[in-house]
Amino acid sequence: MFIYRYPTTGDQIGTCPEMSTDDTNTAIAAAQRSLTYFKHTAPKDRAKILRRWFDLMHTHQETLARILMYENGRPISGARQEISYAASFFGWFVGEAERSYGYTATGGAPGNRVITIQQPVGVVGVLTTWNFPSAMITRKVGGAIAAGCSVVLKPAAETPYSALALADLGERAGGPHGVFNVVTTDRHVSDVGKAITTHEDVKKISFTGSTRVGKLLMAQASTTMKKCSFELGGNAPFIVFNDADLSKTMQGLLAGKFRGSGQTCVSPNRIYVQSGIHDTFLAEFARQVKSLIKAGSVEDERMTLGCMINAKAREKVEHLVQDAKGKGASAILGGERKPDSPQNFFPATILRDMTPEMEASRTEIFGPVATVYRFYTEEDVVRQANHSEVGLAAYIYTDNLAVAWRVAEALQVGMTGINTGIVSDPAAPFGGVKESGFGREGGRHGIEEFQNSKVCVCF
Ligand code: SIN
Repeated sequence: MFIYRYPTTGDQIGTCPEMSTDDTNTAIAAAQRSLTYFKHTAPKDRAKILRRWFDLMHTHQETLARILMYENGRPISGARQEISYAASFFGWFVGEAERSYGYTATGGAPGNRVITIQQPVGVVGVLTTWNFPSAMITRKVGGAIAAGCSVVLKPAAETPYSALALADLGERAGGPHGVFNVVTTDRHVSDVGKAITTHEDVKKISFTGSTRVGKLLMAQASTTMKKCSFELGGNAPFIVFNDADLSKTMQGLLAGKFRGSGQTCVSPNRIYVQSGIHDTFLAEFARQVKSLIKAGSVEDERMTLGCMINAKAREKVEHLVQDAKGKGASAILGGERKPDSPQNFFPATILRDMTPEMEASRTEIFGPVATVYRFYTEEDVVRQANHSEVGLAAYIYTDNLAVAWRVAEALQVGMTGINTGIVSDPAAPFGGVKESGFGREGGRHGIEEFQNSKVCVCF
């Protein structure tokens, strides 16, 4: 049993089973047993389960949102948004379950026909994070179920309840016994992770989390050559050219930067503003953040900024701000906590005069701190934006279509928002390049990640 605490106050809100590697092996065995028939079910029957799951998430949206709010510390309005975002993945995979295509080709040898078929990969190990306690699960599990796979999920230790609530709804949706299994743990996180990533019956690992942990899990998964998809850390550049529509830019930036209190891996991490618009941009940005980003009780519908997940996350952000200030940046908004703030709270902050020497330029901030850099030319900003080991998302604001396409093609990332601050959409394949990982979730690729393509060559 482990105790779970509310991020805002540290008060206990419940307990959860502390599961072991033995429990994990039991879950994998259940998943393996259910796979023997689930992989043969008709796509339309899997679509029906997902459809009912989607409907139940909407029916119980308020309860799911409150669970998420309490365990993650996200204000209720943002928690509701996440539930409908999370459900949208089940909605998407309802359709995808029935749209699984192979292809045919004429073989190189005369008379040969090449035909591919898509088959479920097998038992899938899913490991998710606390920043999207519901959506990270549905995005992976929706694709796995649509493909005909069974799942063993280890949710983040910080947010087990959203996962358990989803499991309950999955059962009510008619998900067969053993198809969706949840292993909760706090003290045995690395042992359970190892059990999942090394077990010979698990054929695929789908992980969202840090690049550091991703590398470890990949090494473990390589012992049995599992198929993997890893959605890891980001350091998103947000590029504002002189001709950008300022009002649209603000809308996109506020939505992207402060979503989940900045604790998202696609959050704008380095905001590059061209010199001609730089000062006007800063003044407007500060004005809008001051009036629109509101912190207070997470139960208050009007609030948009919650607490950080724990003290360690808050301390990291404080350190990055101090480092930047010590190297010449200045805070035009926020910058430090008030002594009477809730324990894990950090205020919305804007830092200006950022430079590449500052730690925040090469670290995923993961907090409500917006860091603004000035740039002069397109070449210069593309070079700076690509100066990162990771490449998940990027954003470009310009009214010049030629510039937008040129820069979008030059940026080393998996996802680019052009005149939008949100790239997350069930129809969009989500994923990165470089050390942000590989594999895609959602979109057409979302189901393929859970399938093997088998070729039959016929004569
Ligand atoms: C993430 O931060 O890991 C996911 C963000 C999203 O789905 O928009």
